Amino acid sequence: MSPATAQQTLPELRQAAASCKACDLWQTGTQTVFGEGKSGAAVMFVGEQPGDREDIEGKPFVGPAGRMLDQALVEAGIDRAAVYVTNAVKHFKWTAKGKRRLHQKPNAGEISACRPWLDAEIAAVQPHVIVCLGATAAQALLGREFRVSTQRGQFLSRPGLPLLFATVHPSSILRALDDETRELEMAAFVRDLTLVARRLNH
Ligand code: URA
Repeated sequence: MSPATAQQTLPELRQAAASCKACDLWQTGTQTVFGEGKSGAAVMFVGEQPGDREDIEGKPFVGPAGRMLDQALVEAGIDRAAVYVTNAVKHFKWTAKGKRRLHQKPNAGEISACRPWLDAEIAAVQPHVIVCLGATAAQALLGREFRVSTQRGQFLSRPGLPLLFATVHPSSILRALDDETRELEMAAFVRDLTLVARRLNH
């Protein structure tokens, strides 16, 4: 793996990231799941890390959380084909439970080892807005003190980065304890994404 540089194109970055061994997750992940979308996309969504389905397919947000994201994007009037979608960490971190592979949160070392790829994607795409989905992405880009629960839904600036915005991770909606809570959480997620859509349409 050659380290990501700000000058590389998305196809060059994707190819270089495919052999990344900057942390140990390459040993247990099936493949690097690089971001997807066009350079010049107005908005970039950053999740935590690929899940089981994404690890197998090699594409971000194609499993259950991706379906929640797709539904919310439709409701907010954002075309998924026009956005760039990626993750803070590009290998699936998991632990075995019987035959299942259970998601494990990436640690600070794994997040920082993967950071050059995210920075290079931002430099190549040059989005107007980055939407952080959940605490891992928000804390990576907005700082470790950032709390999605109290600071979601605001446009924020950080030196050297496009405008930032944080909301919940769609998998948190899937984990809601009952249908009513799930509907309320989905409505709040759509409200947040609608703020992003309005900002993009300005
Ligand atoms: N969760 C994420 O954070 N990213 C994905 O790509 C899928 C699930």
